[in-house]
Amino acid sequence: MTETHILRELIAAEPGWVSGGAIASKLGVSRVSVWHQMEKLRAQGFEFEAQPAKGYRLSSRPKMLHQGLVEAQLKIRRKGFTFTLMDEVDSTNDECARQLAAGRSAPFAVFALRQTKGRGRFGRAWHSAANGNLYSSFAFRPRIAPERMQTFTLWMGVTICELVSKFVPVQPGVKWPNDIVFEGRKAGGMLTEARVDADEIRDLVFGLGLNVNSPAAGWPPELAKRAVSLSELSGGLVDLNRLTAALIGRVLLAYERFTEGDHVDLFAELWNKYDVLRGKDVTLSEGTRKHRGRVLGVDDVGSLLLRDAHGHTRGFRAGEVTIEKGG
Ligand code: BTN
Repeated sequence: MTETHILRELIAAEPGWVSGGAIASKLGVSRVSVWHQMEKLRAQGFEFEAQPAKGYRLSSRPKMLHQGLVEAQLKIRRKGFTFTLMDEVDSTNDECARQLAAGRSAPFAVFALRQTKGRGRFGRAWHSAANGNLYSSFAFRPRIAPERMQTFTLWMGVTICELVSKFVPVQPGVKWPNDIVFEGRKAGGMLTEARVDADEIRDLVFGLGLNVNSPAAGWPPELAKRAVSLSELSGGLVDLNRLTAALIGRVLLAYERFTEGDHVDLFAELWNKYDVLRGKDVTLSEGTRKHRGRVLGVDDVGSLLLRDAHGHTRGFRAGEVTIEKGG
């Protein structure tokens, strides 16, 4: 897309200028066509300074997610990887699943400005207004055993922590198995879903909802105390397009490391760094059953290890964890 290439040239030149002629000859198009593309970009919320002797400079970018602006900032290129940005969809996870079923080649990603049926764990709704937050899903066709799915989510969790820690001055944490939290408030949730064929994963969708720029006053009442957005922590709007480009790069790399089995040592190190449950006294709810114990960590299939009052240790594959008061 020429638009992406123009943005890439302008961003590469920042804070300097780049001439229309230089862009045109680099892209092999006419100056008039560069000018036309820039007019289109202006209509989408970009602002440019123009000076006859120097050329153009990007002076303002749209705050909402913009496909070309994300593409222009991608640092890693992966053969065949594409992503789609939709204004609205039921759920980006469901859209990925439909596209996988229709044969779209993976990896690819789907982002949306808003979701009408955003889903979380246990079939819960994921609040998905068009408020500057991120609703994203990545589709893969890994050849891995289904038991590895849980560790995949945990590995992605620490990957997301590494990413967001570059954008806010507060250390994030992962709350097993799928929450990204800051001091007990949830900034993100992950939902990994797979179709399994004869003991092997056929395709896998990794969904991430991340509260990036929603205003503190904008949450529905039931979420107001439990949710937090990155912008509340950073004290100003986070650059959503730069964050998204960085997210794509990190998720693709993390996926490769995981499928090659090259993540194990780094995972142990990062899990120690970001796990917010270790050493805490918790209650794990499995449907109506409740288990109390102290968290020892996770085992090699990603189950949560709890030691009960009798000193017995047991691993749990699923459940909802609440930290005890003073725990
Ligand atoms: C949870 O915390 O329970 C997981 C929430 C996952 C939400 C994301 S938003 C993008 C993707 N599409 C969905 O419908 N869900 C995930």
